[in-house]
Amino acid sequence: MKMTGNTILITGGTSGIGRALAEAFYSRGNRVIITGRRQSRLDEITAGQPGLSGMPLDLTDPASLVRLSADIRMRFPELNVFIANAGISRAEDMSTGNWKTSDAETIIETNILGVLRMTAALLPMLKGQPNATIMATSSNLAFVPRADFPTYCASKAFLHSWLQSLRHQLRNVPVEVLELAPPYVQTELTGAQQAIDPRAMPVDAYVSEVMQLLEREQHLRGEVLVERDRDRRWAEREGRYEATFATMNLG
Ligand SMILES: NC(=O)c1ccc[n+]([C@@H]2O[C@H](COP(=O)([O-])OP(=O)(O)OC[C@H]3O[C@@H](n4cnc5c(N)ncnc54)[C@H](OP(=O)(O)O)[C@@H]3O)[C@@H](O)[C@H]2O)c1
Repeated sequence: MKMTGNTILITGGTSGIGRALAEAFYSRGNRVIITGRRQSRLDEITAGQPGLSGMPLDLTDPASLVRLSADIRMRFPELNVFIANAGISRAEDMSTGNWKTSDAETIIETNILGVLRMTAALLPMLKGQPNATIMATSSNLAFVPRADFPTYCASKAFLHSWLQSLRHQLRNVPVEVLELAPPYVQTELTGAQQAIDPRAMPVDAYVSEVMQLLEREQHLRGEVLVERDRDRRWAEREGRYEATFATMNLG
């Protein structure tokens, strides 16, 4: 993708990986629009930063999506990059007698339908632009699941598959389609503890490695894989799938 002079919309830009990506692209001379539900975060992050804008969006609310895409068409008709990064994660225990599907449904609504609906809303604009790119954040749990996060891992496996088809269908338009598949990163995705977990990769280190890969166009098949992704990404191909699954799912 082109690394400067873009107009970029990033969902989930109010914290974690999305915020760090927004700041990295902004510092490289891109106009960046971040979205999220927390208006106070949008205000705080964009304050005093011309060219960095915040727009409210709740991916589980269809009206909010319609409002956002109309605002984008009006205010940023030159939009050429969409980064579908917002996502949520919840543990689920399906072995208990009272397992309900409400968490699974919210994950599917946010992580899957949110990406599809936003892509459908923005694709007509992106198709008309030179240097159009769609990048979505899956997870390296798309390749080997952690069984205590069943719907979350499956939602990311869905994205991994869906993005391959999207990439193929848009190859001649052209719209470049990239996939970010982060390893375990220090954000508050699963709560405050994750942000200080020493086993997780610091978010700035993750995003800095991603930006290097993007700058060097080191993303075979459109997959932006950092060094820490490789173990899980290639587990099946290298005959380590069962062992990797067992290590990740002890007990
Ligand atoms: N951190 C990791 O270890 C890791 C690993 C692999 C993949 N990922 C993926 O990376 C992406 C970013 O997560 P993160 O780790 O940076 O966690 P995070 O700090 O919790 O960020 C999640 C972002 O998604 C937004 N969001 C959540 N629900 C939303 C909704 N209904 N509507 C609109 N926005 C919503 C949040 O904004 P508001 O709360 O303001 O709405 C927030 O900006 C996710 O897709 C996640 O699955 C993370």
